[in-house]
Amino acid sequence: MTKKLFIKTFGCAMNTRDSDHIIAELKEKANYNLTQDAKEADLIILNTCSVREKPEKKLFSEIGSYAAIKKIDAKIGICGCTASALGEEIIKKAPSVDFVLGARNVSKISSIIHKEKAVEIEINHDESNYEFCNNIESNIRALINISIGCDKKCSYCIVPFTRGKEISIPTNLILKEAKARVENGAKEIILLGQNVNNYGTRFSIPHEKINFTKLLQEVSKIDGIERIKFVSPHPLHMDDEFIEEFASNKKISKYIHMPMQSGSNAVLKDMKRGYTREWFLNRVNKIKSLCPDVGIGTDIIVAFPSEKEEDFYDTLDMVKNIEFDTMYSFIYSPRKGTLAFNMKEIDSSIANMRLEILQNLHKQILNKKAKNEINKTHRVMIENVSDKGSEGRSDNGRLIKIDGTKLSIGNFYDVVITKNENGSLFGKTI
Ligand code: 5AD
Ligand code: SF4
Repeated sequence: MTKKLFIKTFGCAMNTRDSDHIIAELKEKANYNLTQDAKEADLIILNTCSVREKPEKKLFSEIGSYAAIKKIDAKIGICGCTASALGEEIIKKAPSVDFVLGARNVSKISSIIHKEKAVEIEINHDESNYEFCNNIESNIRALINISIGCDKKCSYCIVPFTRGKEISIPTNLILKEAKARVENGAKEIILLGQNVNNYGTRFSIPHEKINFTKLLQEVSKIDGIERIKFVSPHPLHMDDEFIEEFASNKKISKYIHMPMQSGSNAVLKDMKRGYTREWFLNRVNKIKSLCPDVGIGTDIIVAFPSEKEEDFYDTLDMVKNIEFDTMYSFIYSPRKGTLAFNMKEIDSSIANMRLEILQNLHKQILNKKAKNEINKTHRVMIENVSDKGSEGRSDNGRLIKIDGTKLSIGNFYDVVITKNENGSLFGKTI
């Protein structure tokens, strides 16, 4: 008999991809179908994130609310990064949980559901050669893992402790998956890894020497792929060869995420990021010079424990100078086990103030940039269509709405920008 699976996914694209794999494995190997209603589910899975403290703390109240509404014999499973970080503790604190499955242990999902109170969180479990069942739907966008784990030791970051050592997935498996997805209608391929441009550093089987730039070239040879994106690259590994390929390869989307974290050399050093503000700026300038219309995104942490006022000003200065098109900003959150965990935290009123100042500055930058977009033409791939109209993304990552016209999802159109409403861009096809 078919059973029902409810799954809620937190965190990054990597977790979204893990959830895809969980759904596909359970569909094929345990006869589950997806439901959006937790009340009718036979299995409730929370695929968790632990990058900041808040979502981790909220997990237990979340478990409580699902335990209260679930069917009497329904099971609850906790997967993902918080599962890796807390392990046993989850079952001890929340006895309604039936199993805990760490990130990077996803291939065990169809066996763990039959075990009682199992905890499987081995952080260096090698799944790099495992061919997951694929929930291949005719989706125009395909997320494809190219590596798992992270070898960096950024002093604030829990990921190396939840996703283990970095290991690359063999190139032939990546290409096989990309081809299968394209045959099923994918136009856009998003290559995923914690540190994508370190690809090829370690495989768990003998493998030809290959780096990220070469992988991009191989993927772009596949007929039918129109756009290639990747998350997240590390600024340290953005060598000239990579930047030149990024700029010249027509299939590669001209949007790049460059997580800066801080604009201060002292803080970057304490964060153990491995680059200076000068290096970061040099890479940005090289990209901008080869690719003038590039969209650049970033992540910034404010109030890292050693961040003094002048360090924060250095960050503001970089943001003003670079004018990022997208900025995700966070207040530093201490994570147990990381190098920075024992450093004295900055007062929360100062942290909140810094975040607000940074975000206000970025709003001004976005408004200025949006005004400059009027009358520009972009090649847009339509991603959503509703009664109101269509929307899609330009090659450099801008979200553009085309009101009143129902265009075809997955198709490309030349769109001229006609209006900017508080930073939202509207246009019409030409
Ligand atoms: N506190 C705040 N933000 C963090 N990030 C990672 N770890 C922490 C932390 N301990 C942010 C970084 C990273 C993004 C995914 O989350 O900016 O790039
Ligand atoms: Fe993704 Fe990091 Fe959150 Fe894990 S902790 S889900 S890797 S953002």
